[in-house]
Amino acid sequence: APAKPVLLTGASGNLGRVLARELAARGWTLRLTDLAPFPDPLPERAVFERMDLADGIGLLRQAEGCGAILHFGGVSVEQPFGTVLGPNIQGLYHVYEAARREKARVLFASSNHSIGFHERPGQANERIDVDCAFRPDGYYGLSKAYGELMGRLYWDKHGVENVNIRIGSCFPEPTEARMLSTWLSYADLVRLVDCAVTAPRSGHCVIWACSDNPASFWGRDHRDRIGWQPQDSAEAWRAKVGHITSGNPVIERYQGGGYTAIGYSRQT
Ligand code: NAI
Repeated sequence: APAKPVLLTGASGNLGRVLARELAARGWTLRLTDLAPFPDPLPERAVFERMDLADGIGLLRQAEGCGAILHFGGVSVEQPFGTVLGPNIQGLYHVYEAARREKARVLFASSNHSIGFHERPGQANERIDVDCAFRPDGYYGLSKAYGELMGRLYWDKHGVENVNIRIGSCFPEPTEARMLSTWLSYADLVRLVDCAVTAPRSGHCVIWACSDNPASFWGRDHRDRIGWQPQDSAEAWRAKVGHITSGNPVIERYQGGGYTAIGYSRQT
C-alpha cells in the first residue's frame, strides 16, 4: 500500500465506490469525498467528508499529507455547458492546486469522449494512439480534454505528476456492441489505479483505459511507464451483445457512440 494517505474524489459514484472498497481491501489508507453521502459502510482505515469541488480551501485541507489524489468526482455525463463548467473546470483547478501544494500525484478520470469524434477504425492497424488530436464529442468530453491539458501544464510548469486514464466504458459487463471495443472491467480499473499510484515515476502520461479487447479502437499509450497491463477482455460477451447497435449512422460511425448524437445538427 502507498506510504501516504490517498484522496479519492467522487467516492460516492459508481467507480468511486468500487475503488473505495477494493483499494481499502489492498490495505490503502483512503480519504473519501463527494457532494453526495457515501452510500456504503465505510471501509477500514477510510474517512469520508462531504464536500463540493467548488470549495478550493476545503480541498487543500483534505489533501493535506496525501501522496496522491484520485480525481473521479464531477459531472460524468453530457450536460449543458453551464452545468459542466463549475465541477469539471473550476473543480479540477482546485484539485491541481491541492496536488501542487502537497507534491502529490494526480490520477485523472478522463474519458474516451475527449476524442469521441474520431471515426471507429476499420481494422486494427487503424487504431489511434494517445497523441491523436482531441476531438471532443460534447461539453463533457471537452472538459476532459481540458483536464488532460491541465495535467500537461502542471507537470511542465510545477513538476506535478499526473496519470490521465481515458476510460472507455467501465461497467460490470458489456451491454452493447460498442463495448466490445471500449469495455474496462472493474478489476482492470483497480489494477490500473494501483499501478498509477505506486509506480516510482509517472511524469505526465495518458493511458487508454479499456481491457485487453481484440476489438479495441485504441493503440499506443504510456502504460509501460507505470507497468500496467489489462487482464480481462470483452470478447467473451460477443455472442450476447454483438448484435446490439443503435441503428443511428452518426452513433455507429464515431468512437464516442451515443454522446456524438446528442444535439447533433451537422448537415454535411
Ligand atoms: P458518477 O456520476 O457515478 O460519479 C461521479 C461522482 O461525482 C458522483 O458521486 C457525484 O456526486 C460527484 N460529484 C458531482 N459533482 C460534484 C461536485 N461539484 N463536487 C463533489 N462531487 C461531485 O460517475 P462514475 O461512472 O463513477 O465516473 C467516475 C469518473 O470517471 C467521472 O469523472 C467520469 O467522467 C469518469 N468516466 C467514467 C466512465 C465510466 O464508464 N463509468 C467512462 C469515462 C469516464
